[in-house]
Amino acid sequence: MLDKLGFRKTKATDQFNIEDNLEIPSHVAIIMDGNGRWAKNKNLPRVAGHHEGMKVVKKIVREADRLGIEILTLYAFSTENWKRPKDEVDFLMKLPGQFLTSYLKELIEKNVQVRVMGDESRLPEHTRAAVNQAKEQTANNTGLILNFALNYGSRHELTMAMRTLAAEVQIGELKPEEIDESKISGALLSHAYPDPDLLIRTSGELRLSNFMLWQLAYTELIFTDVYWPDFSESHLQQAIQHYNRRSRRFGGV
Ligand code: FPP
Repeated sequence: MLDKLGFRKTKATDQFNIEDNLEIPSHVAIIMDGNGRWAKNKNLPRVAGHHEGMKVVKKIVREADRLGIEILTLYAFSTENWKRPKDEVDFLMKLPGQFLTSYLKELIEKNVQVRVMGDESRLPEHTRAAVNQAKEQTANNTGLILNFALNYGSRHELTMAMRTLAAEVQIGELKPEEIDESKISGALLSHAYPDPDLLIRTSGELRLSNFMLWQLAYTELIFTDVYWPDFSESHLQQAIQHYNRRSRRFGGV
């Protein structure tokens, strides 16, 4: 059976055949959407969807690591998500701590590097403490980069980057004509990473929601109807199969 984007519906237990000889995208970014609708469909509170979503993060991190993805960027909380009811925001802010309490040991064993991309200054102290501990304890790891976009907004990121470059111009360290694409990329929160090769958005919404607008210029976009709590290893594998069917020309022929 196919969903509307042609994703074959497979069992979560289906294994990826490495002999398929697929190119594994180096940097995969995911907009994890649909937690609320998943919960509503089950007559559960919205936060139950976020809790289930956190469990899926664990599964997908394991699978990304197994497949050899180098960077996995997950949109966990946007600069606009503060508009949600306080109870929901409080719950979302506790998830990084919960996730890391139960999973940091495994991340360390798996050589995963935990990173955060976003304005951390507005995060509650307990959230910051949890992510800082994870960052510190995985700082010397060399495997998969697990990059949480937390209180992240692309327009805010670009605004800050412009301020940084403008300040350098003001003190004479930079000439306006020296501002090029690499200077702008270098002033973004993602400066240490290549642009995503593949973006996946779950839940059927067809928009970017202020996520990595500069970095996604040539990224392959895949939208699936599956709600994030239902997203499985096999969905990630299928997205990679779709990615392999795309012809990336970066504006060339
Ligand atoms: C969007 O679904 C999802 C979020 C705003 C939160 C995403 C967070 C997780 C998946 C868990 C994060 C886990 C860690 C470890 C930080 P929505 O609530 O907008 O769903 P809806 O559109 O159906 O209402």
